[in-house]
Amino acid sequence: MIRTDPMLRENSLQDKTVVITGGGSGLGKSMAEMLLRLGARVAICSRDEEKLKRATEDLKTKTGNDQIIYAVCDVRDDEMVANALGQIRKTFGSYNALINNAAGNFISPTERLSSRAFDVILDIVLKGTKNVTLASGKYWIREKIRPVSVVNIVTTYAWTGSGYVVPSAAAKAGVLAMTRSLAVEWAQYGMRFNAVAPGPFPTKGAWDRLLPGELRERFNPAQRVPLGRVGEHAELANLISYLISDYSSFINGEVITIDGGEWLLGAGEFNQLRAVSEAQWDMLEQMIKSAKKKK
Ligand code: HXC
Ligand code: NAP
Repeated sequence: MIRTDPMLRENSLQDKTVVITGGGSGLGKSMAEMLLRLGARVAICSRDEEKLKRATEDLKTKTGNDQIIYAVCDVRDDEMVANALGQIRKTFGSYNALINNAAGNFISPTERLSSRAFDVILDIVLKGTKNVTLASGKYWIREKIRPVSVVNIVTTYAWTGSGYVVPSAAAKAGVLAMTRSLAVEWAQYGMRFNAVAPGPFPTKGAWDRLLPGELRERFNPAQRVPLGRVGEHAELANLISYLISDYSSFINGEVITIDGGEWLLGAGEFNQLRAVSEAQWDMLEQMIKSAKKKK
């Protein structure tokens, strides 16, 4: 077994038509690749038409599945979203799965942000997810399409918060709240809502904005992960394919972390003791035991 091979059986997603926002690059593109390999029909959408066109051709060649289309839209714009989803329905007839993956982010001390800079991230991440989800949900309810699976891509700081990416943290927390809320409210219409919180998975989009220049060396993300490495795209894509599939039919309202233990390393009060050597532990054990004897 190779961990980057498709986890599900061939053609196990042949009854799924999946819309992936931001599917032309990075993790969204890797998810599209895995879903296509498993027989799904896939529509990718984002702002950059050239990028989408290139990704579509590349994915057809790589997977041998030509059931992939693209639609241009800025998820912040309700009307563009409605048009893009309309185009997708026209070509594929319908769709029954959605991955809200599009995002914007950059590091900055919060006091340096203009109001517009703060808004741009809230708008892409939270309002964009709302726009695509609301339009899709109304369509699925109206047309009685079921079962439906929605997967929202969040981050581990959606629940811890994080300095220097405050708009993103606030927006992802909102997306997580929306995921859990709709998981309950819209279950009656046959929709499941889950979230996935990835740790560090190298992509150009994220690395250029979150680890620019010498930060890449100074804050090597692999060193923050107990398993000692960053994620591989196919590992995340396999998890997504499971959540889209009917094998996960009873999973609803969950957030699944895939980060090699990264966020818990920061959370556990004594986890920094990873740095203590065996010899130091021998010494510390003696010190602790002798302190007890002296009582
Ligand atoms: C301060 C900044 C800034 C920066 C932009 N702005 N970059 N302020 N520091 N580094 C300000 C601008 O000055 C402007 O405010 C406002 O933000 C909008 O900028 P525009 O360039 O006009 O916006 P736009 O063209 O819409 O581009 C959106 C973007 C861009 C978010 C700024 O980076 C983008 O398109 N990103 C999409 C892809 C992306 O971000 N991928 C990474 C996802 S990674 P003023 O006031 O001057 O007009 C991710 C991972 C999380 O989410 C977890 C990792 C572990
Ligand atoms: P990425 O390659 O930059 O992907 C972001 C995608 O969103 C791009 O394809 C971009 O395409 C699209 N997008 C941005 N703004 C948009 C808008 N207004 N309308 C429509 N599409 C828009 O970054 P990534 O690393 O793959 O990130 C993918 C997801 O994973 C994001 O939700 C991110 O928060 C999450 N995540 C990533 C990591 C990581 O380590 N990489 C960790 C945790 C969470 P266009 O430019 O063509 O619009």
